[in-house]
Amino acid sequence: MKKLFFAQIVVVTTLVAGQSAFAQEKELQFGKDPIKEIVKKMSLDDKVRVVVGKGFSMPGMTLGSNDKTPDKMPTISGHTIPNPKFGIPSIGMADGPSGIHRFVMTKKDSADNLFSTAWPVGTLLASSWDTALVRKVGIAFGSEIKSYGLDFILGPGVNIHRNPLGGRNFEYYSEDPLVSGSMASAIINGIQSQGVGATIKHFAANNQETDRASVNEIISERALREIYLRNFEIAIKRSQPWAVMSSYNLVNGTYTSESRDLLTTVLREDWGYKGLVMSDWFGGKDAAAQVYAGNNLMMPGNPTQVKAITEAVKSGKLSEAELDKNVEAVLNVLVHTLTAKNYDYPNKADLKGDAQISREAAAESMILLKNGENALPIKKSGATIALFGNHGYDLIAGGTGSGDVNKPYVVSLNEGLTNAGYKLDDALAQNYKAHLADYAAKHPKKSLMQELMNPTPFAPEYKFDAASAGQKADASDIAIIYIGRNAGEGNDRKVADDYELTSLEKDMITSVSDAFHAKHKPVIAVLNIGGVIDVTSFRDKVDAILLAWQPGQEGGNAIADVLSGKVNPSGKLATTFPESYNDVPSAKNFPGKEFPEKATQGMMGKVIPAEVVYQEGVYVGYRYFNTFKVKPAYAFGYGLSYTKFSFSNLTLSNAAFNGKITATVTVTNTGSVAGKEVAELYLSAPHKSMDKPSEELKGFAKTKELKPGESQTLSFTLDSKSLASFDTAQSAWVADAGEYKVKIGASSEDIKLEKSFNLTKSITVEKVHKALAPQVSIDELKAK
Ligand code: BGC
Repeated sequence: MKKLFFAQIVVVTTLVAGQSAFAQEKELQFGKDPIKEIVKKMSLDDKVRVVVGKGFSMPGMTLGSNDKTPDKMPTISGHTIPNPKFGIPSIGMADGPSGIHRFVMTKKDSADNLFSTAWPVGTLLASSWDTALVRKVGIAFGSEIKSYGLDFILGPGVNIHRNPLGGRNFEYYSEDPLVSGSMASAIINGIQSQGVGATIKHFAANNQETDRASVNEIISERALREIYLRNFEIAIKRSQPWAVMSSYNLVNGTYTSESRDLLTTVLREDWGYKGLVMSDWFGGKDAAAQVYAGNNLMMPGNPTQVKAITEAVKSGKLSEAELDKNVEAVLNVLVHTLTAKNYDYPNKADLKGDAQISREAAAESMILLKNGENALPIKKSGATIALFGNHGYDLIAGGTGSGDVNKPYVVSLNEGLTNAGYKLDDALAQNYKAHLADYAAKHPKKSLMQELMNPTPFAPEYKFDAASAGQKADASDIAIIYIGRNAGEGNDRKVADDYELTSLEKDMITSVSDAFHAKHKPVIAVLNIGGVIDVTSFRDKVDAILLAWQPGQEGGNAIADVLSGKVNPSGKLATTFPESYNDVPSAKNFPGKEFPEKATQGMMGKVIPAEVVYQEGVYVGYRYFNTFKVKPAYAFGYGLSYTKFSFSNLTLSNAAFNGKITATVTVTNTGSVAGKEVAELYLSAPHKSMDKPSEELKGFAKTKELKPGESQTLSFTLDSKSLASFDTAQSAWVADAGEYKVKIGASSEDIKLEKSFNLTKSITVEKVHKALAPQVSIDELKAK
C-alpha cells in the first residue's frame, strides 16, 4: 500500500516554486530538521494543533473536529492533527492492552482479515512471573501493530489491584508494584523493539471505575511512592515507553492530567522520563492547566481545548514557552513513528503464528490452585468429559470496553478438549448451546457506544437439572465445572452475584460434585474470570481448581493443554484471593463516598464528585495479609505444579551490605515430570522510625523447564533502593540500619529458606522532590 505523505507533497510544491523557496522549506521539514527550529517557526495556531488531537468520530458519535482531513484509520481511538506546512503527518493510536481494538470491523475489514490476536489479559500474563515470555508476547504484539500501520498502542495498563471489584483489574497486572512494573517493562520493550510506541496507562491511581472521571483519590505520599507510582517508575526507567497516559481521576485534589507535580516533577524530574504524556480520552477539565502541568497532548482533542489554550497564551495566563515545551515533547516522539518515516505497511499480520504465541503464553501462565488426589492432569487419554457451565461453550477471552479486541475467533473449552482428543457429553453441550442461542436472540446487542460502556450482561447460568446429575456421572469419567466472569471500563463489579457465586452456580456445583463423587469420579473447576472471586464457598466441593483468568482467543486450547498435562502449570498468583471480601484492606474504602448534591452534567451523563481515602496506606494485598496475619484463601505468589520442587543452598554474596548484595538459590525438580518453578525473594527490613510490612517482594526468577532430578541456580541482585522505604518527612528513599532478612519462597506465605545481612549505617538512597501531598490528614493503617 503506497501512501503519499505531506513531506513529499511539500517537496514537490517547493521544487516548482523555485530554488530559494526550496531551500527555505527544506529547513522546516519534520524528520529532517531540528524540532526546536521547526517550533520556532510555528504560529500559535500551529503549536496548539500539535498538543490537541484531531477530534473524535466513530460510528454513532462525532464530537467536534479540529481538522477536516480524513482519519488515516477511521475505526481506531485517536489521531493527531497533521500540519502539511512542516510535513507533519497525522499519526494513529489504537487500543488496547490485550490486542488491537477497532470500534467496528467493516465487512471489508473482515474479508481482508484485519483481525488482531487476542492475547491473554494482563493479570494472566503477570501470573507467568516470566518476563522473557511477556517480552515475546510484546514482540509479536508490536509486529501486529506495525503490520497494520498503527503508530501507538494504548497499553499496557498497569494500575495496582487495590480491590477485587475494580472493573478493569483484568487489564492490569498485579497488587504488587515490582511484578507490575517488571511485566510492563517487558511488554513495552517487546512492543517498542518493532518501532511502534507503547502507552503506559493510567497514570496514576486509576484503581476504580465508579466515578472514574470525578473521584478524588486521597493517598499518602508514601503509599503513592511505594505502591501506586512505584510500578510506573520501574517500567519507565527500564523501558522508556514512548507515551504515558494520564488518568481520569484526581489525586489529592488535582486531576492527574492537570498535576504538574505528577507529570513534570515526579515523572520527568525525579524519574527522567523522555517521552510524551497524553490525556485519557476527554480527561481533565482545564486545557491550559493541562499544558502547564506537562500533559503534552489532549486526546482525542476537541475545539474547546484549542480555543482555551489559544486564549490562555494570548492573555498571558499560559506562557508560550510552556506551550513550546509541550509541542517539542510531542514532536520529539512523533518523529520516530512509522507514519513519520513513511513506512509502507503490509496491512497483513501473521495471525497464525501469533495465535500459537498467545496459546503458549496463556498455558504457561495459568495457575493450579488445588489438585486433591492428583486429580489433574487427566489420566486417561480419550476420557469422556461432562462440561458444565455456560462459558465452557462460550469462552471469555478478555474484558470489555477499550480492552476488548477484534479477534478472528475464540476457542471454547468445549472445542479445546475436543481438539485434544477427549469425548464430550454431546447432549449436555447441545443444552448449553441452545440456552446461549436463545438468550442471545432475546437480548440483541445495543448501540456501539452503549455496548462499550455498558455491555449486555451474560446469560444467566443454564439451570441444570439436578435429577439428571447421576446419569451424567454414569456416562462420563470426569466433570468439569466452568465459572465465567467479565467486566470492563466504566463499571466496577459487585459483591453479590459477581465476586460471590450466583445461587444457580452454587446449585450446579453442589449437584454435579455430589453426583460425580458418589461414583468416585473427579470434579474439576475452571475459572475463566477477569478479577478475584470468592473461592471459599466451593473449593472443598471440587477436587481441582485451575485458574485460567481471561486467556485470549486460544483459551480453550490452552486450558486443555494444562488439563491434559501437555503443559505443566507454572503460574503463580500475582494477586491475593482472600477468604472473604471483607478481609480486603480497602473493602471499607471502596469505591468511596459520593457528593450527589454537587453533581454536574457531563458529556456521558451525570458527573458526581466523589472521594476515596486510601486508609490502608502501603498495606495492599499480601503486604496486609502477611503483616496483619490474616489468612487468605490463596496467597500472593501461590501456585501448584504437577511435579515438586525443593529449594536449597541460599547464599548471600556478603554478610554486610555494601552498595549491592547478590543472593543465589538452587531449585531442584524432585518430582517425576518436567516443570518450571518460580523463586520469589521477599525482604524483611528493620523497623526504625517507619512502620513497614513484614516482608515485601524484591525479586523473582523462573527456572527453565527442569527435568525430574534436574537443578538450576537462580540469582538475584538487591541494590540499595530495594532496601529502602519512602520517608515522607525527608522526601527520600531511606534504608534503615540493621538486620535484613532475605526469604526465598514458593509463595508469600510459603517461605523455604532464609538468611540475613546487615546494613551498618542508614542510607539516604535517593532524595526526590516533595510532591503530591494530600491536603487532609489520613488516618493510615499502622502495624505498630
Ligand atoms: C480508556 C482508555 C482508552 C481510551 C481510548 C478511555 O475510555 O480509559 O484506557 O485508551 O478510552 O479508547
